[in-house]
Amino acid sequence: MKTLFRVLRYARPYRSSLAIGLLGLVVGTAMDMAVPVITRYVIDFVLLAGHHAWLGWLAAAIVATASFKGVFWFFQRYAMAFMAQKVIFDVRGDLYRHLQELSFRFYDRAQTGQIMSRVSQDVELLRRFLSFGVIQLLGQVLSFAVVLVLLFTIDPVLTAVVLPVVPLVALAVWQFNRRVRPKYQEIQQKQAEITAVLQENVTGVRVVRSFAAEDHEVEKFRRVNWAYLEKNLEAMRLRATWFPLMSLSADLGTMLVLAIGGWRTVTGTISLGMLVQFLQYLAMLFTPLRMLGWLVNMGSRAIAAGNRVFELLDTRREVAERPGALRLGRLQGAVRLERVRFRYQPGAPWALDGVDLAVEPGETIALLGATGSGKSTILQLIPRFYDVDEGCVRVDGHDVRDVRLADLRRQIGIVPQETFLFSTTIAENIAYGRPGASREEIVRAAKAAQIHDFIASLPKGYETVVGERGLGLSGGQKQRIAIARALLLDPAILLLDEATSSVDTETEALIREALRRLLLGRTAFVVAHRLSTVRLADRIVVLDEGRIVQEGTHDELVRVPGLYRDIVRLQLAEAREAV
Ligand SMILES: Nc1ncnc2c1ncn2[C@@H]1O[C@H](COP(=O)(O)OP(=O)(O)OP(=O)(O)O)[C@@H](O)[C@H]1O
Ligand SMILES: [Mg+2]
Repeated sequence: MKTLFRVLRYARPYRSSLAIGLLGLVVGTAMDMAVPVITRYVIDFVLLAGHHAWLGWLAAAIVATASFKGVFWFFQRYAMAFMAQKVIFDVRGDLYRHLQELSFRFYDRAQTGQIMSRVSQDVELLRRFLSFGVIQLLGQVLSFAVVLVLLFTIDPVLTAVVLPVVPLVALAVWQFNRRVRPKYQEIQQKQAEITAVLQENVTGVRVVRSFAAEDHEVEKFRRVNWAYLEKNLEAMRLRATWFPLMSLSADLGTMLVLAIGGWRTVTGTISLGMLVQFLQYLAMLFTPLRMLGWLVNMGSRAIAAGNRVFELLDTRREVAERPGALRLGRLQGAVRLERVRFRYQPGAPWALDGVDLAVEPGETIALLGATGSGKSTILQLIPRFYDVDEGCVRVDGHDVRDVRLADLRRQIGIVPQETFLFSTTIAENIAYGRPGASREEIVRAAKAAQIHDFIASLPKGYETVVGERGLGLSGGQKQRIAIARALLLDPAILLLDEATSSVDTETEALIREALRRLLLGRTAFVVAHRLSTVRLADRIVVLDEGRIVQEGTHDELVRVPGLYRDIVRLQLAEAREAV
């Protein structure tokens, strides 16, 4: 019920459509009720009493009610479909906006396919119910009530006789629904699992092929596909069992009316026309009962879908801007981490365990350490992708939790370990952080990032469309595009997570030159894997298991025994070997 009301709240702005729908419904129902009355007069007045001249008029009356009903039916359907489309447009928009605001903690755990299925399939189920189900539900209840009253006015005795059949039908319908509803929830879930497997397979296609794991993937898909089929068949079995039971109990009613009503016609208590009218209404009485089963079903599916949609909408934003957050002007670029402790999930080991670090504006810090030591984590905390568990992160003296997120993040350029490119032109990819940038600015950034010559060598140059996630470019090329992107943003603070992939010496020289220009005049944190990059830094910070173990310049650190000297020696040995 709560879900239903929440959906209906979305419908509030479209009240007028709802009103038209209801009007159409009432008129349509009235027209439905008129046809048996006309039939009765055809039998009693025209056929039995011999007023044959009236036959044509009464036939015309039936055609007229049908046409009238058709016109209202059109307005009813259109108004409701319009309302449903609008509501779903709003729900989908809200979902998408909410997804923009959800924290990385959510995305760390979320399955892309599950999100996709909620935004597409579940929302679609809701739409179908809104557009068709809601009005039908109201319509069937209305016509049930009206028909019941009409039956009483025709023959109270006969009505009293068939009335006990109604709860019988209702019971069958209710029993059926009780059994089938959980099945629909499961079907919905299985469908989402299919989407999730498919989506991961497409995204991970290169991994799948390189491990020749196609058969394993096909088997994985077969399992979810089969589970989906099984759930559907279970629901189908229920339907196939219960539908005949439902109509059997309805037929029982018809039989009673024919037997008892037939006798009453013979004895002259009611006319033949009235009996036919009664039978027509009786069918109308059972239709709502049967339809209700189907509609409640549809409603259950829609509510199951709605629950999943609202669950996503209600997922709390962990990193949320506090009310009245501070506006930031252009940052100087001072960054401080004060006794920062942080972990990705409650109960997990600390990813950072008491990190203190003060960085002056314009300074370049190289972060070094073994894999998993917390280098990337430090970078994630500065733009407040996650909130620290203890201590605080400050930029220009402001706690990042006190400032406006957009103001903060717009001044932080990020060159991540894995460059993500959108499937659009190279020019648009470079200008992602500044959509209004002119072509000259884009080219200037590309030149500084040492990628202009490569781009210019492509047949379509800056208009080359890159594949999804930048497929079709090498790692080094993608990284330099990411550098151009950051340069164009001209951020006060720069976060660079150097790709671990090794590049040839020529590319390395290009990247170093690109980086040198990128770092100029801004505060920078560089997770460095190459000594050539480390050399660009003013200060080196060495991490081990979430703690800072060494800090200083290259010259200071190579002189003392420790992690830094080990790393340098290892790299030099590798370099010698390569030579
Ligand atoms: N999104 C995440 N969810 C949960 N745990 C994470 C997440 N990202 C990192 N971790 C964990 O936090 C710790 C620090 O990871 P971090 O990514 O900072 O390491 P790193 O120093 O950047 O390593 P690398 O050199 O391999 O990139 C690791 O133990 C890692 O398993
Ligand atoms: Mg990392």
